[in-house]
Amino acid sequence: MTALVAPEALENVPPAVERPHLSVVYGRQAAARPWWRSASIYQIYVRSFCDSNGDGVGDLGGVLGKLHHVASLGVDAIWLTPFFESPMVDGGYDVADYRSVDPRFGDHETVDRIIEEAHGLGMRVMIEVVPNHVSSSHQWFKNAVSDPTHKDRSKFHFRDPSPVGGTPNNWRSAFGGPAWSLEPSGRQYYLHLFSREQPDLNWEDPEVRADFEQTLRFWLDRGIDGFRVDVAHGLFKDPLYRDNPELPREVRGGLAQGDGERHCWNLPEVHEVYRGWRRILDSYTGERAMLGEVGVVDREQLALYVRPDEFPLAYEFEFIHTEWDAVATKETVSRLLRALDAVGAPATWVLSNHDVLRAVTRYGGGEQGLRRARAKALLAMALPGAMIIYNGDELGLEDIDVPEEALSDPIALVAGVPGRDGSRAPIPWSSEGPAFGFSEAGSWLPVPDGWGGRSAVLQERDPFSTLWLYRLALSIRRLPALCAGDMRWLDAPEGVLAFERRYGKQRIHCIVNFSARPIVMQQGDVLLSSSLRPIGGVLEPDTACWVMAPSGDT
Ligand code: NOJ
Repeated sequence: MTALVAPEALENVPPAVERPHLSVVYGRQAAARPWWRSASIYQIYVRSFCDSNGDGVGDLGGVLGKLHHVASLGVDAIWLTPFFESPMVDGGYDVADYRSVDPRFGDHETVDRIIEEAHGLGMRVMIEVVPNHVSSSHQWFKNAVSDPTHKDRSKFHFRDPSPVGGTPNNWRSAFGGPAWSLEPSGRQYYLHLFSREQPDLNWEDPEVRADFEQTLRFWLDRGIDGFRVDVAHGLFKDPLYRDNPELPREVRGGLAQGDGERHCWNLPEVHEVYRGWRRILDSYTGERAMLGEVGVVDREQLALYVRPDEFPLAYEFEFIHTEWDAVATKETVSRLLRALDAVGAPATWVLSNHDVLRAVTRYGGGEQGLRRARAKALLAMALPGAMIIYNGDELGLEDIDVPEEALSDPIALVAGVPGRDGSRAPIPWSSEGPAFGFSEAGSWLPVPDGWGGRSAVLQERDPFSTLWLYRLALSIRRLPALCAGDMRWLDAPEGVLAFERRYGKQRIHCIVNFSARPIVMQQGDVLLSSSLRPIGGVLEPDTACWVMAPSGDT
């Protein structure tokens, strides 16, 4: 039986109540091992997080200064987006030197301090590895284009024009346009599945493989706890460079690749690389982790990446893009869990990141968007597995409108679509100041006038703020039922999703009301509600809640 009754029972609704007293369990979770199986990982988009030197760009000093904010959420780890030397054509995903720190972001000593302080606060530190492509400013590419006989040429995909002229095949860049550009000398085309400043590496070249292994060791030796692997389903390409069967979907910001692009993504050879990386990670103490960005559409293909000797965690985009609908959400969750259960891997739930619209915006913006984003956060945090929080989601931020002259995302510049800058707006830390506490000066992206109203400092004082919702939810999530319990779906009225997490006698129900009608809750103590104005005993539309189910309930 579920903790719900039909909406007809809305008579005798109890009056509004204060948020119920919460008995919160702090500390590390005891039940789920290794740590990543139920991890909460906080993604820091470094250049938008906090600027410590007044140049308008977020940096590592800024991260250091805000570690307490992150720790106060109660997350297990932080993931820092690329801070390596880069011309910043693609926000640092165009890496010129993988073992360096770009002076705009800081230096190695600051990375060391972040590791030390984060560890002291009980958080692990993950950084990025970007193996599919390098920056065109990387020494390898410079060598390759300056001398056609240079050994580094074989580290890339250089091809002659097709016999009828033009690009060697029909592969498309994920950012729009052909995936091939002529090298500066005009001699041959080179492959770039993203911008032309991001030439794809040829992973058949043994030096490429050896060099990345050295990079992993370089950072692991410094104390890094793991890596987020950019476009993990990239790397290998069809050796015959055959045309893809059909042209890919239009750029839609999701960067997910389907069967239509089978000759340039998700080739089986990629798995051996990650098995090697996993062996490296496992040779270090401390459960070092790897989180793959695996943008493949097919769930069974995704599951191959998280087999026991590959990635501990992999995330994808279907949960992000699932519409606000109970049936669709249940289907997305079930399909993913089924596929991952088959290989014994945990799921990784993501609400937003720097490549997609923030959840609030995706669900309509304004108050409705915020209500739905808060509800979806509780849903994600109650599902079995790990989860990733994109910085600013804990403040309920939405995308900003970026004026054309300020656009910097190559998707916007190449494809002429709005691109991803809107979700990368600087974090408002304080309610006033030129960049609301992000920087003493301005910021690399403009911030809207009202941005300070969403600042961390104001939300700190409001117990119903999104900041407090995240803190409370992440704490409660450490209860054994939520971090290690079994899951089963519960019967629920139309438009409502309900499931139970159970560990021994502890049972927690998560109920999400996707419908436009309020739902009366029948039994159990509400642990937490995503509502902006909770009403006792009622689950309003676009709201989720967690209920401690009575132990006699079956
Ligand atoms: C995925 C990253 O998240 C995105 O920001 C980047 O543009 C592409 N990979 C290419 O590296």
